[in-house]
Amino acid sequence: MTPWNPHSWQRFPAEQQPVYPDPTALEAVLARLRRLPPLVVPEEVDRLRDLLAEAAAGRRFLLQGGDCAERFQDCTPEAIEGKLRVLLQMSVALTHGGRKPVVRVGRIAGQFAKPRSRPTELVRGQALPSYRGDLVNALEASAEARRPDPARMLEAYFHAAATLNHLRALTAGGFADLHHPERWELPGGTGEVPEYHRTLDQVRESLDFLEALGGVQRDALERIDFFTSHEALLLPYEEALTRWVPEAGAYYHLGAHTLWVGERTRQLDGAHLEYLRGLRNPLGVKVGPSATPEQLQTLLARLDPAREPGRVTLITRFGAARIREALPPLLAAVQAAGHPVLWSCDPMHGNGMESAQGLKTRDFDAILAELRQAFELHSAAGSTLGGVHFELTGEAVTECTGGTQRLSEADLAKAYETGCDPRLNRAQSLEMAFLIAGMMRG
Ligand code: PEP
Ligand code: CO
Repeated sequence: MTPWNPHSWQRFPAEQQPVYPDPTALEAVLARLRRLPPLVVPEEVDRLRDLLAEAAAGRRFLLQGGDCAERFQDCTPEAIEGKLRVLLQMSVALTHGGRKPVVRVGRIAGQFAKPRSRPTELVRGQALPSYRGDLVNALEASAEARRPDPARMLEAYFHAAATLNHLRALTAGGFADLHHPERWELPGGTGEVPEYHRTLDQVRESLDFLEALGGVQRDALERIDFFTSHEALLLPYEEALTRWVPEAGAYYHLGAHTLWVGERTRQLDGAHLEYLRGLRNPLGVKVGPSATPEQLQTLLARLDPAREPGRVTLITRFGAARIREALPPLLAAVQAAGHPVLWSCDPMHGNGMESAQGLKTRDFDAILAELRQAFELHSAAGSTLGGVHFELTGEAVTECTGGTQRLSEADLAKAYETGCDPRLNRAQSLEMAFLIAGMMRG
């Protein structure tokens, strides 16, 4: 393999990159980004790698989730608190029901770029360049708004910094303390997920008991780990946030704790894999129905030559109708090659459909069906499903059908707010977590 450096990806074909009309403006932005402080520190990245290694070994469980695409306009305390709250609530359900500590990773504080199937899209009859996420262009339906603007990279950096700052303040300030019931309430009615209240009561009782025994430090419960992630898509931006860490003798991406490569950009001879392979961060790879066993082996040889636990998370996303045929050969190939990967299931991206009214949606039961099969297939192959990956929000949106609220296609228009793919709402996410906890117990 050729020597790696943070810009060696530039020698390889890169999918999904915008063409910036003004290269001088682009270079000025990148020069500024390179001088700005990192958003995370290497010690946190190393800690996440250790935790993911434990999840790969079946001792922890990864919960990764957040928006499909974060928007700058959603950088509000309500939206950030909502996402943190729902992820914490889900992790309580998973830890309690699944009997494993949960590693929480948000698709947050940097999930601003989107791969698109086509370079143009029709908006109300008008053909426009596709929206590629707030990192690249604007969602508004005009040719001007859709022009790639490098200044958006700086805006993305500062929005990520503001989001992460709020997350850090909340997690350090006792937001996760189970003894504050008001923070754990599900606005919108307690009837939504009745099991949630029983669980919360049981968790609180157990904690009180442990505290009475002197076994748990109160502040250990109040402080929680929360990590950030995004898709490594816009390579000039990712490169600018890459830093040499002398103590480790390695390069880290310090714009997030972990990055993943998407289904559309994981070509073996492509720029995205080239960029990722040189980083010390734990890495995710989306794996869809087109992946072959041989491809996956070559990809892992490239990203994980040292066969290091925690290094790679394979995030499968086949769809409920295809997982049974697609997953087993890949499990066998990875086992044969001896990579100690963490297997995670993204039950969202293979289950997209269009409603009769033309809205992109996903059905709760299809999502559940893919997850159920993932647990079964791993177990049958002597493997472990060690995590899940969701598109979700803390808000009461109506983007996916089904769940205890029985949202129908006709309900979708009520609060359909996503800038990209449909997300599970708060109640659907929590209900899903209880169902997963049941599957973890077998
Ligand atoms: C995503 O996670 O938002 C995404 C685009 O996924 P995938 O690469 O699996 O299609
Ligand atoms: Co998506």
